[in-house]
Amino acid sequence: MASNEEVIAMLNDDLTFEVEATLIYMHNHFVLTQAMPTQLEVFDIALDEMRHIEWLSDLIVGLGGNPELKPRQIRFAGADNVEACKRGIDLENEAIALYNAHVAAISDPKIQWRLAHIRDEEVDHLNEFTELLEAAEKAVEDRQPTVGDMMGEPQESAAGDESGRG
Ligand SMILES: [Fe+2]
Ligand SMILES: [Fe+2]
Repeated sequence: MASNEEVIAMLNDDLTFEVEATLIYMHNHFVLTQAMPTQLEVFDIALDEMRHIEWLSDLIVGLGGNPELKPRQIRFAGADNVEACKRGIDLENEAIALYNAHVAAISDPKIQWRLAHIRDEEVDHLNEFTELLEAAEKAVEDRQPTVGDMMGEPQESAAGDESGRG
């Protein structure tokens, strides 16, 4: 079974992951423009991740460790709802795998219980992102044509425009 130092290192890996997920979801919250429900739900999920940061930090301090916020290169999702939901699904699947591995590797029942609790919330997030993705994809399919679409506005690139646009 894992030593105290190894447990602290695992919890710090979890902490780093939660900080990254929080930043990615907060960024989504700021930039998503297509549908308010997605923005608000992603913000709620970001708040859950912040609570996970607090719980993990408490466990680390309780073991005599130092909660480390190690910055890594963060891949943000763009302002597109479909892309943001797919990024969320990837992150939540990664989180579930991480917590399952750490629940199996750590013998302290209190820490196991807390990590399993966080893991179950990540499963909820995965389900929420899956539903949001379905809604976002349906919104793309159902998108009403704009006046410009209906008027058949000329395509600049098709008219021999050499400015490099289009
Ligand atoms: Fe989390
Ligand atoms: Fe999550």
